[in-house]
Amino acid sequence: MQHHPSPNPEEQQFELLIEGLLEQQYGFCDDFIDPETVAGLRDNLLRFYDAGAMHPAGVGRHFDYQKNTQVRGDVIRWIEPDSEDPFERRFLERVQAFIRYLNQSCYAGINDFEFHYAFYEQHSFYKRHLDQFKSNKGRKFSLVTYLNENWQESDGGNLSLYLDATKQEDLYPVGGRTVFFKSDEIEHEVHPSHTRYRISIAGWLKRV
Ligand code: OGA
Ligand code: MN
Repeated sequence: MQHHPSPNPEEQQFELLIEGLLEQQYGFCDDFIDPETVAGLRDNLLRFYDAGAMHPAGVGRHFDYQKNTQVRGDVIRWIEPDSEDPFERRFLERVQAFIRYLNQSCYAGINDFEFHYAFYEQHSFYKRHLDQFKSNKGRKFSLVTYLNENWQESDGGNLSLYLDATKQEDLYPVGGRTVFFKSDEIEHEVHPSHTRYRISIAGWLKRV
C-alpha cells in the first residue's frame, strides 16, 4: 500500500489508524467517534438489547447454537446503511469519510461496508479467530468501536491481537476507542469480563 500523510487536522485520526496499521499491523484511536455520538449509540444498543431485538450472530440454515456459543457469546444487531437514526448516521458518515480517505491515500479499493452492534454479557467471549471467511473474501479491514462507559483494566474484556507467532497486543474496550486491522491477516480474541457487560460496534470495510 502506498501512503502519503496529510496535515489536515480533521483527518488526523484517520492517519493514526492507517499509520498504525502500516507500521505495526493495527491502528487505534481514542476519539474516532465524538463522546455525544458514542453515548447515543450506547443508548440505542441498550434499548435494542432490553427489547430482545439482538440475536446470536450467524443465524441461518447451518447455524448450530450449541457449537456457536462455544466460539462466541455475543448478540448482535446490524446497522442499516440508510438508517435515519441521528447517531447511526453520524457514525456511518464518519466511516464513509474514512473509507474515502483510505481509498485516496492507499488505493484500498473499498466499495462496501457492514456494521453491527454487539453485546457481550458478563463472562461471554469470542475465541481466537480471523474475520475474513474462507468462502467469502469480501471483508478487507476490521473496524471496532467501543461504547463502554468508564471501563477499567480490572474489568478485563480485552481484545488480544495476535500479530505474529510471538507478538501479542492487548487493548481494553474503552468508550470511543476504535481499532483497525486487516481482516484476513490478524487473528484476534475477545476475553470475557467477569465484572460487567461489554458493548461495541464491529464492522468491516469490504471490496465486493
Ligand atoms: C468481532 C470481534 C472484537 C471486539 O466482532 O469479530 O472480533 O473487541 N470483535 O469486540
Ligand atoms: Mn473478529
